[in-house]
Amino acid sequence: MLPKSFLTPSAILGLTIVLLTSACSKQKENVDWPVYLGDSASSQSSDLNQINPGNVDQLEIAWSFDAQGVEEDGFTNMQCNPLVINGTVYLTTAKFNLYALDGTTGEPIWKIDPFEEISKSLPSPIESTGGTRGMAYWSGPEGDRLLLGIANYLLAINPQDGSLIEGFGNQGHIDLKIGLGRDVDQLRYTTRTPGIVYQDLIIMGSSVSESLPAAPGHIRAFNVVTGEQVWRFNTIPQPGEFGYDTWPEEAYKEFGGANVWAGMTVDEERGLVYCPTGSATFDYYGGDRLGDNLFSNSLICLNAQTGERLWHYQFVRHDLFDYDLPIPPNLLTVNQNGKNIPAVAQLTKQGYVFIFNRETGEPLFEIEDIPVPASTMPGEVASKTQPRPTKPAPFVREVLSPDQLNDVTPESKAEILAKYSTMDPHVPWTPGSLHKDSIVHPGMIGGAEWGGAAADDNGILYFNSNESSAILTMIDATSSGSPGEALYKQNCIVCHGEDLSGGTAFGQVVPSLIGIENRQDRGAIAKVIQFGGTTMPGFRHFSGKDVFDVISYIASPGQLGQHAEDADEGTQPDSVKFIHTGNNIWTETNGYPAIKPPWGNLNALDLNTGEYLWQIPFGEYPELIEKGIPPTGRVSYGGPIVTASGVMFIAASLDNHMRAYDMKTGDELWRTKLPYGGYATPSTYMVEGKQYVLIACGGGRGSPTGDMFVAFALPN
Ligand code: HEC
Repeated sequence: MLPKSFLTPSAILGLTIVLLTSACSKQKENVDWPVYLGDSASSQSSDLNQINPGNVDQLEIAWSFDAQGVEEDGFTNMQCNPLVINGTVYLTTAKFNLYALDGTTGEPIWKIDPFEEISKSLPSPIESTGGTRGMAYWSGPEGDRLLLGIANYLLAINPQDGSLIEGFGNQGHIDLKIGLGRDVDQLRYTTRTPGIVYQDLIIMGSSVSESLPAAPGHIRAFNVVTGEQVWRFNTIPQPGEFGYDTWPEEAYKEFGGANVWAGMTVDEERGLVYCPTGSATFDYYGGDRLGDNLFSNSLICLNAQTGERLWHYQFVRHDLFDYDLPIPPNLLTVNQNGKNIPAVAQLTKQGYVFIFNRETGEPLFEIEDIPVPASTMPGEVASKTQPRPTKPAPFVREVLSPDQLNDVTPESKAEILAKYSTMDPHVPWTPGSLHKDSIVHPGMIGGAEWGGAAADDNGILYFNSNESSAILTMIDATSSGSPGEALYKQNCIVCHGEDLSGGTAFGQVVPSLIGIENRQDRGAIAKVIQFGGTTMPGFRHFSGKDVFDVISYIASPGQLGQHAEDADEGTQPDSVKFIHTGNNIWTETNGYPAIKPPWGNLNALDLNTGEYLWQIPFGEYPELIEKGIPPTGRVSYGGPIVTASGVMFIAASLDNHMRAYDMKTGDELWRTKLPYGGYATPSTYMVEGKQYVLIACGGGRGSPTGDMFVAFALPN
């Protein structure tokens, strides 16, 4: 008899593939992409080799699918990494509809609107969802199912026809706000990155508010058949639990965050799940959460069956920078001193690569504790040191020194230098100061980002990285202004800006609110505030008065910081005292980052030795290329995939191209302009002997938006 652990979904799929291969001729082979990012180890890797370095430049569009859910100037946030199972593609569109498509033609087989499905059995309106990166898949004796997180719900869907699976939770869905050990009904709680399957469990992370009040980011496992919650690991420890003493005594009742939003990785053989967490809320001020704040900013290794903690490592103590772990860890086998070691690698926004023994948590390269600056904020106590690996070298520059400032044109240089000279010289890990601009480098977008890193069988990690700085300015959120102003500062300023003019926040476009009252009636505005938009989170915990106050403030903002007689400090008991004026990525007039290029890289890192095999600028600005300036690299969102033929595929760059590279050398082998930016990670699969590479094209982030998927293949 086979041991039970052998019958994992991917093992069963593997068997299917073997059977198909042996039953039919090689030409009729089917190879799936059955897990988000390829497999449970987050490898972003495929054994396919039909497309190879010699023929990749012949790739052409095999099919494209346009769900037509957005206008060209609408809002979109398409980050889906599609699944492919038995030749059928499963994906989510800009408006979060779920489609099953024929993998050879892109023809729809069925479609559902998950919001509509949920509202069939629920009276209350469903809040907005922050976006979706895809779904999980499970198959077993009870029948297979897709597991899709939308807003605060997890749905179990029949892959054959899109119907909800009745026996799962409440008529096919469960409410993820239930079972956290705390009432989070009025708080934001969504899942953007799919959960990960281990045996008959789906393990779920969450996206929660980055401001207070916020839900806690506890990690949970649910039975894939019944929807029943099986275990919960408290990322904000409760009395008696390990790490409880790294917080104020009552913190576990009110503080939030420390959530896994970037996805998890499972070691199926060992039955372990690796969970990378984000910052504790509020991200930039922690005077009310003194201590290291375990298990925020940590990689936690849990027994996947029970949720019991085996080991953990915290990368940022008492985070004041929003240095969330932004990317799922990779599992690799590395060879050190002639010994094969099962390793887990974690990339960070700071540009560090940490590698541990998967079983023991022991670092494979020494980690040193470096002294870091103190905080000048009232009531704040920053950690005295932070961890830094001695190897591999950071993949971004650590210090924004004067000689590293943007010099692509004399004008850029002058503008950036003028601003730089008004601030204190950059020292890594300097927290924000009150009413003063400080440089944060790398900025909050990293470093590494959520698209994931690809790993091959030789212990080599392939990933894209961003490099930009931010300016952090802290202001007092409570002591002045009207109640509406205080609410605006605490909850809205991050995205809509100090002067209401919008811009970009968290890498997405945010509209201006100037003159909003002339464009929309108060009822419509109130609805957006309470329930959110496509990507804007809802503020359901706002009272009617709060909504009224904040609309009054938006309608006539006056001067921020002005004192108003009727300041009412009682409305938000557990809100933030000090707030920042937004995630201000520091760019000059043309939008180019403050730092000298490269602004984005592709990296191939050998984890056996800790040495980079190659690093090249990734992405470009056509107008700078025209001026004869060498490729500068550019911000990218979404990750690469690697294949057995030695070809790596990646879209992601804000220059809206999809490219193929030689994994050995980093040489570009092919590129094509996508109809809309492909800010997602591709999938690759084979149906009837033909290999496809599939990418979501949603655009946005400053370029036109669409709702398309494009599949490439070699000509017949
Ligand atoms: C995480 C970023 C974010 C935060 C925080 C945020 N918004 Fe938004 N807001 C958006 C985005 C993005 C849109 C565009 C609609 C969409 O796609 O969700 C938007 C749209 C709006 C609109 C509609 C604008 C229009 O022209 O139709 C209003 C009004 C609004 N926001 C008010 C607020 C208020 C008030 C707050 C604070 C209580 C707030 N927002 C907090 C991102 C944000």
